[in-house]
Amino acid sequence: MALLLLLCFCGSIAAVPPVGSQPEQVHISYPGVSTSMVVTWTTVNKTESVVEYGVWGGKLFSHTAKGNSSVFINEGPEFRAVYIHRVTLSQLTPAAPYVYHCGSDAGWSDIFYFTSLNESASFSPRFALFGDMGNENPQSLSRLQKETQMGMYDAILHIVISPTTGIVLACRDTRRICGTVYFYLEYGLDLLFRQYEWLRADLEEANRPENRAQRPWIITMGHRPMYCSNDDKDDCTQFQSYVRIGRNDTKPAAPGLEDLFYQYGVDLELWAHEHTYERLWPVYDYKVFNGSSEEPYVNPKAPVHIITGSAGCREKHDGFIPKPRDWSAFRSTDYGYTRMRLINSTHLYLEQVSDDQYGKVIDQITLVKEKHGPDAWH
Ligand SMILES: *[C@@H]1O[C@H](CO)[C@@H](O)[C@H](O)[C@H]1NC(C)=O
Ligand SMILES: *[C@@H]1O[C@H](CO)[C@@H](O)[C@H](O)[C@H]1NC(C)=O
Ligand SMILES: *[C@@H]1O[C@H](CO)[C@@H](O)[C@H](O)[C@H]1NC(C)=O
Ligand SMILES: *[C@@H]1O[C@H](CO)[C@@H](O)[C@H](O)[C@H]1NC(C)=O
Ligand SMILES: *[C@@H]1O[C@H](CO)[C@@H](O)[C@H](O)[C@H]1NC(C)=O
Ligand SMILES: *[C@@H]1O[C@H](CO)[C@@H](O)[C@H](O)[C@H]1NC(C)=O
Repeated sequence: MALLLLLCFCGSIAAVPPVGSQPEQVHISYPGVSTSMVVTWTTVNKTESVVEYGVWGGKLFSHTAKGNSSVFINEGPEFRAVYIHRVTLSQLTPAAPYVYHCGSDAGWSDIFYFTSLNESASFSPRFALFGDMGNENPQSLSRLQKETQMGMYDAILHIVISPTTGIVLACRDTRRICGTVYFYLEYGLDLLFRQYEWLRADLEEANRPENRAQRPWIITMGHRPMYCSNDDKDDCTQFQSYVRIGRNDTKPAAPGLEDLFYQYGVDLELWAHEHTYERLWPVYDYKVFNGSSEEPYVNPKAPVHIITGSAGCREKHDGFIPKPRDWSAFRSTDYGYTRMRLINSTHLYLEQVSDDQYGKVIDQITLVKEKHGPDAWH
């Protein structure tokens, strides 16, 4: 299974019109081999697939890699065809900064840069994560751009509204530190059936004792949460949330995600969709399972949920119901985003940044797990 880490080491992004042979939508992904990186982009016309690159500070474009493209028909009203180009850069020096551009002699992209993966088992990756950042009103964007340029993050996870690829995000290769991070598609029955079996099989694989010993953290990322205390009528506000428990009024019945994640000992579940921030006490089946009441996040007996969908978009904020549920630990309607650091195999640190309060950290927890997997629940 191809596991990709969507690494958004966003450099400058040019607003180039979608003409002919000009590369668009350039992004990088991690193919599960620590010394490799895949560069992907699209063009309207068929062109060669070339990446020219080199180590930052060295001779510009000293290396060339070639790949190929496949045609993708957009299912919109125009059935617009685009070419999706993929080029794998291999034999990279670990943890080194690289500069590249992609395209062909018919048109090159802007210059971008990335840092290849650090292979050290004690590498402690730093993430920024958020959901629902739109083109309009992207309030947190400038702060994130600056912090990224300052080298504060190894990767940015955007819990997006309609990912086209479906899945996948994994830190599979940073050995015992990272778990597998899943992208769960926007909830929809047809997609659910296609995805559920994939998800189950991949969780099973990630949770195998030998895999978990190397990469203990399993972190899921899904767009629509199964819990929330917002005052809209979204699925997560219902006790019988479809995402949480599935539904029986369809044929075949649709499975829910709560039991699946619990069964495979998912440590942390990241969600968006609600344009607010909410941290939950460890929760399963609507009941709180604190590690202890003094230290709820030290060896919790159920997964921890974070809903971080307030980066800023056209629909602005959502509101909360006045009285939070028992499982709700902290709520904020400030625009902002979350920082996550996987410190080591037992410690994971999370903090919430308020953009409204000029970057103030308004919430923080350290999740401590001396044991991972479903056995940790008992
Ligand atoms: C790109 O493709 C379109 C449609 O296939 C064609 O009309 C156009 O001439 C091409 N442009 C270039 C620069 O090749
Ligand atoms: C592109 O190259 C990859 C790797 O060599 C190969 O698996 C894939 O089938 C190729 N795709 C096309 C459309 O040629
Ligand atoms: C990789 O990470 C380790 C552990 O954090 C660190 O000591 C080392 O300096 C990093 N390697 C590079 C080349 O930055
Ligand atoms: C669906 O039916 C099964 C078996 O009767 C039951 O265990 C489950 O709770 C039901 N789910 C929902 C969402 O009603
Ligand atoms: C969980 O821990 C928090 C923090 O100590 C506490 O406020 C809450 O009441 C606890 N919940 C349960 C069910 O013990
Ligand atoms: C992980 O880091 C924490 C905080 O620095 C430390 O207390 C703990 O002993 C470390 N755990 C392991 C297994 O190294």
